[in-house]
Amino acid sequence: MLRIDIVTIFPGMFEGVLGESMIKRARDKKKALIRAHDLRDYTLDKHRKVDDRPFGGGSGMVMSPEPIFRAVESLKKNRRRGRGKVILLGPQGRKLDQKLALELSRLNWMILICGHYEGVDERVRERLADEEISIGDYILTGGELPAMVLTDCVVRLIPGVLGDKNSLNFESFEGNLLEYAQYTRPADFRGMKVPEVLLRGDHGRIAAWRREDSLRRTRQKRPDLPGGSGRA
Ligand SMILES: C[S@@+](CC[C@H](N)C(=O)[O-])C[C@H]1O[C@@H](n2cnc3c(N)ncnc32)[C@H](O)[C@@H]1O
Repeated sequence: MLRIDIVTIFPGMFEGVLGESMIKRARDKKKALIRAHDLRDYTLDKHRKVDDRPFGGGSGMVMSPEPIFRAVESLKKNRRRGRGKVILLGPQGRKLDQKLALELSRLNWMILICGHYEGVDERVRERLADEEISIGDYILTGGELPAMVLTDCVVRLIPGVLGDKNSLNFESFEGNLLEYAQYTRPADFRGMKVPEVLLRGDHGRIAAWRREDSLRRTRQKRPDLPGGSGRA
């Protein structure tokens, strides 16, 4: 069971995502327990303020350390056991990829901190977070969408979450290759035909075709992957 606690000023944003599809299935099967917590519940002032002006001037507001530290410390009290990580979502972090998702899927708990405005006070990054993770080289308004992306790709890797255990056998990025082309019925759709080899049931030839297709499309679309330079 992977426990994921998300610290956010917009807990309502998670309702749809957590209640549908794969994440819902993982929760129903008790493989993951995911909760979004309102950061404002951990403020100490009556206005429930979570941000302030940056020292040294500059535009926008910075998220204050106090409520974030209080939220994480409170959640961590119940998460002492097992392997866990406090993760700050931020564009300066380690870039999320399939390898990192697999590492995270082996944890027992994660606390995800969603930033907003101009970002979070640096002391959160230095003293509270174990790791900062980015979902890509672009800037989003807040850490909520990144937290959802991270949760989705990690949760589906927990053993037993996907219905068909084969669906994890080969996917893009495994072995540093992209996945081969997939087709379903009809075999001829408006004159567009499925490759013959896939229709004949010769499993050896199908495997060879898929391997070749994976290599070819990785070379074409993602030459930056080790598999794309023919080293897979
Ligand atoms: C507008 S961004 C702040 C960007 C910050 N001023 C900077 O230049 O690094 C607000 C928040 O959105 C989240 N965020 C934005 N882009 C992200 C990304 N690519 N990956 C992960 N989190 C991101 C982070 O939590 C961040 O604190």
